Amino acid sequence: MHTTVGIIGAGPAGLLLARLLHVAGIDSVVLESRDRAYVEQRQRAGILEQTTVDALRAAGAGERMDREGLVHHGIELRFDGRAYRLDLPGLTGGRSVMVYAQTEVVKDLVALQLREGGPLLFEAEVTGVEGADTGRPVIRYSHGGREQVLTCDYVAGCDGFHGVAKRAVPEAARRTHERAYPYSWLGVLADAPPAGDELVYAHSDRGFALASMRSPVVSRLYLQVPNGTALADWPDGRIWDELDARLAADGSRPLHRGPITARSVLPMRSHVTEPMRWGRVFLAGDAAHIVPPTGAKGLNLAAADVLVLAHALAARYATGSTELLDAYSDTCLKRVWRAEHFSWFMTTTLHTDPGHGPFEHRLQLSQLDRIATSSHAAAELAHNYVGVPVGLPV
Ligand code: FAD
Ligand code: DHB
Repeated sequence: MHTTVGIIGAGPAGLLLARLLHVAGIDSVVLESRDRAYVEQRQRAGILEQTTVDALRAAGAGERMDREGLVHHGIELRFDGRAYRLDLPGLTGGRSVMVYAQTEVVKDLVALQLREGGPLLFEAEVTGVEGADTGRPVIRYSHGGREQVLTCDYVAGCDGFHGVAKRAVPEAARRTHERAYPYSWLGVLADAPPAGDELVYAHSDRGFALASMRSPVVSRLYLQVPNGTALADWPDGRIWDELDARLAADGSRPLHRGPITARSVLPMRSHVTEPMRWGRVFLAGDAAHIVPPTGAKGLNLAAADVLVLAHALAARYATGSTELLDAYSDTCLKRVWRAEHFSWFMTTTLHTDPGHGPFEHRLQLSQLDRIATSSHAAAELAHNYVGVPVGLPV
């Protein structure tokens, strides 16, 4: 089989890229190792930046999001028993975020692709990419019990952190930057209305907590826990008590409790692979970079990468020029490093590090107080939270 762009992975990056290319009249084939149900039900991110929302709308994938998504104009920070609200549009010149789960974005994009787009093959596991620096790269994959080959003009490696595409960048040319954190998140989904209308990020002596939501009747909640934490140590009552203790602030209400329908422990890491392009292979999303989740950047970075890539491929086929493709890695990495810094900053400012003492704790409180009392510091946080520009040429 031959296609113009071979896309490895049907996460948000691969699916949105396939859709953007379809809209631009460029053929693609998407190869995904898992089955459809698995891909559509994987619990992950929930906050879409304005740029991601605009991209989904422009790709014709925004209809259900606009009906069911919740536009949020603020977030709350809690620390030292105080609550402080950041007015996102007021601090950023009118920008907001949307609560719409990654599971729903993926379902919408899968449905569109199967209805209108090129082939999307589930249970098609890519084993390798060859000829990245030739004019005709080759993707090897197994599907239906047979080894198969897809030849392409270009390959998009959208296969997540554990994917195979990044191996197309020769080891001698690949630089990786990594940081692990001494804590994880225990994430739960509960059939309970959120306590308030907006997300709450809480720093406390007991550790970090985040109260988010998926809908007016479903809460998404996170607790900082030690690495290696076993779910068996966290029965429902302990989870709710700990959330209430960490989220408490003057005038705050306890959470509404309800049945917990999903739970998992998520390790946290920062990671960047550079460059994000080798020959005709382009890495996008988690295949090239990971952020710790505090600040909700992972999915949005994946969307930003493929916006840049789709634009560059469209220019290549419209004009023959590879200038934008040649700039892809540098263009993306500017935004990636900004998000790496912001995610690291949010994580280290809000979590309790077991290796730190009172000095570092007072620094954290000073920084949080600065955000609460200085419109400059608050605006810096708000601009990063709603997302910096994608860096497309105008
Ligand atoms: P992925 O979503 O990982 O998609 C990659 C796809 O490639 C997968 O479907 C995979 O099955 C497929 N694949 C892999 N290898 C192969 C192969 N060899 N052949 C074919 N297909 C392959 N971000 C936030 O902003 N907020 C959050 O709360 C949040 N929570 C998260 C929780 C978890 C457990 C994880 C892992 C991530 C979380 N993230 C969160 C990050 C966010 O979900 C990711 O950044 C986002 O999914 C990136 O999309 P992607 O398409 O690049 O990668
Ligand atoms: C969610 C996850 C985040 O990492 C975050 O900063 C905000 C919300 C969520 O899953 O809803």
